[in-house]
Amino acid sequence: MAKEKTLEDLFHDTLKDIYYAERKILKTLPKMARAAQSDSLKAAFEKHREETEGHIERLQQVFELLGKRPQGKTCDAIEGIVAEGEEIIDEFKGTAALDAGLISSAQAVEHYEMTRYGTLKRWATELGLNDAATLFDATLKEETKTDSDLTKLADASVNQRAKAA
Ligand SMILES: [Fe+2]
Repeated sequence: MAKEKTLEDLFHDTLKDIYYAERKILKTLPKMARAAQSDSLKAAFEKHREETEGHIERLQQVFELLGKRPQGKTCDAIEGIVAEGEEIIDEFKGTAALDAGLISSAQAVEHYEMTRYGTLKRWATELGLNDAATLFDATLKEETKTDSDLTKLADASVNQRAKAA
């Protein structure tokens, strides 16, 4: 019979998933900042790259709280989302629509992270890991803020510019 698995196993696996994803995002954001045409979008990606370093540190703190070594587990979802973003960079390079496409793929990343942190926060609370829940909540707030800042940028100018060319 298969060994019983519990919420704690799910929690640990999901922690490894988002740890992998965050490190992938840390490597991807500089490429997105370089590709972005508008200065405000470049700045938004650079700011989020710095925040992402903090997200990785918080995850390392959670591993520590569990008495486990920080370890990633390949996250196919983030690989797919990032690959689609790279496709947009290739296919829209030099066009007025590029920044709108970059925002759309960055928002796909943010929403993926928001689902992961939302789940992890609830599971941490359920497991009595309140310090971990607080750490997840801090990151969740930054991901949510980044997502809404990107929407504002898209609405303020980027989508218009993409349409007007
Ligand atoms: Fe993050």
